[in-house]
Amino acid sequence: MAAEDLIAPSILSADFAKLGEEVDNVLAAGADIVHFDVMDNHYVPNLTIGPLVCEALRKHGVTAPIDVHLMVKPVDRLVPDFAAAGATYITFHPEASEHIDRTLQLIHNEGCKAGLVFNPATPLSYLEYVMDKVDMVLLMSVNPGFGGQSFIPSALDKLRQVRQMIDASGREIRLEVDGGVKVDNIAEIKAAGADTFVSGSGIFGKGQDADPHRYDSIIAKMREALASVGG
Ligand code: DX5
Ligand code: ZN
Repeated sequence: MAAEDLIAPSILSADFAKLGEEVDNVLAAGADIVHFDVMDNHYVPNLTIGPLVCEALRKHGVTAPIDVHLMVKPVDRLVPDFAAAGATYITFHPEASEHIDRTLQLIHNEGCKAGLVFNPATPLSYLEYVMDKVDMVLLMSVNPGFGGQSFIPSALDKLRQVRQMIDASGREIRLEVDGGVKVDNIAEIKAAGADTFVSGSGIFGKGQDADPHRYDSIIAKMREALASVGG
């Protein structure tokens, strides 16, 4: 029941002055979904982009799934705005919502897929009573707030645990990893159970030259590394 591997470039590391073009180019290079990091300078110590930018990408013509990673507190107020702006997935950190079950339902009622995000030290017990309401589990392999940090190795054990929980549930739930994912570690991350791979600096971090094909080789290398893992 292995799901198809999905590569999800995090636009946090893209050139925001030409975001539409960056997203077009990375999708043309073979990326599957657009990872959209929303930070509020409250839940995390950084400030990024909101629903207007998501809507602008849709108006620009982006049809790929948009994976909105909310690093905001409170959560609920922004859910309808992102749904209206064209989000496909909306994931949030359970510590940031007073009523996790309600927020998951709200996301579904707004027509989006829902997911919970786990910081490196957040216990998986938050999943216990809502496994039937999540479409994605996102494991952070860095502490949220910034691109370009190093992968925290203990995320691999946690991944194996979540993989077991998902398989035991019998449901189709995406298992996504976010933080420090690169060509050289993506295979072991897949081997530990992930099927959706966020990469920001690993894809966009190679300078600002104007070659529209500069993402092709990095994504091809990621695919090659993923293909080397059985199962
Ligand atoms: C961090 C964000 C990540 C970030 C990943 O809080 O959630 O999505 O962009 O960036 P890299 O791949 O550079 O670690
Ligand atoms: Zn993210």
